[in-house]
Amino acid sequence: MRPLWILSQSRKLLPALLRGQRTMSSKPSVYVTRPDVDASGLELLRKSCNVSTWKEALPVPREVLLREVVGKDALYCALTDKIDVAVLDAAGSQLKCVSTISVGYEHIDVEECRKRGIRVGFTPDVLTDATAELTLALLLATNRRLFEASKQVYNGGWKSWAPMWMCGQGLKGSRVGLLGFGRIGQEIAARIFPFKPAEITYTTRTARPQEAAAVNGRHVDFDEMLRNSDFIVACCALTPETKEIFNAEAFNKMKPNCIFINTARGGVVDQKALHEALASKRILAAGLDVTTPEPLPLDDPLLKLDNVVILPHIGSADIETRKEMSRITARNILAALTGAKMEAEVSV
Ligand code: DGY
Repeated sequence: MRPLWILSQSRKLLPALLRGQRTMSSKPSVYVTRPDVDASGLELLRKSCNVSTWKEALPVPREVLLREVVGKDALYCALTDKIDVAVLDAAGSQLKCVSTISVGYEHIDVEECRKRGIRVGFTPDVLTDATAELTLALLLATNRRLFEASKQVYNGGWKSWAPMWMCGQGLKGSRVGLLGFGRIGQEIAARIFPFKPAEITYTTRTARPQEAAAVNGRHVDFDEMLRNSDFIVACCALTPETKEIFNAEAFNKMKPNCIFINTARGGVVDQKALHEALASKRILAAGLDVTTPEPLPLDDPLLKLDNVVILPHIGSADIETRKEMSRITARNILAALTGAKMEAEVSV
């Protein structure tokens, strides 16, 4: 053998290998930030890529992400991973795609990705029905006080049938206001409509009369929605415009019987103001599938209130939905790596 030749070749290859970069013959490399996404998505990737994953069924620690993303061609991430300039810098200029297993993408610096020519994939549509269904479940659990009532069965609070005990506020004849009327908002409205509310209103930047026609939905401004609604459902994206839009001022405008439901993002709510509104009975109740932070610490004051139902961010947690989300996330990557059209690409 020619030791000098080997040495010179390995000197050339070593930097690329150390950075985990591809050599001419190898497959593209993908880092997946969770090992517990449905295997069908990972199998799709493994057919043509080298796939490595974080090992624990928990969000990947930041320092591990920064280390493991080095030299990867694509990143399969979740909404718990902050994909910012530091992660993109650590990855290197070969990174072609960031694909998140979520419809929300506020955890990704999309503008920075655009500047660098990195394509961003997400999973809209597939989770619309599951999220709308969970929103209804949460609304009904809150307005009919299901968890509070169920607790009485176990703690001896159930003494007998009683005429006004554990009564809630029905949807029939009520005014329901939605903040956000995209795919999910429309499906929530469609599910509320059969409960015979007096009116469904929605607040969006521009009116969507065609989409609203099926539920006789009326476009209103935020102020009118706050003042007139018996139920308010947050189903909007978290943007600079919606960040903490439900603040003390907003809760103070709501009717005292208002029930507030949030299946959007915890960030659309000033949680301290919400706690005050609930504790002082300024509003009747709240149902939250999303909070700040997540998970909510066990000593959070919201957990001490009876008039709040809190779920651990399970809006899209329907088995078939989550399986398909895993596959879409993978297919988005495979498309981006071959320069093809992605199934769902975030457009900036
Ligand atoms: C999303 O996809 O953004 C949901 O919040 C979780 O599935």
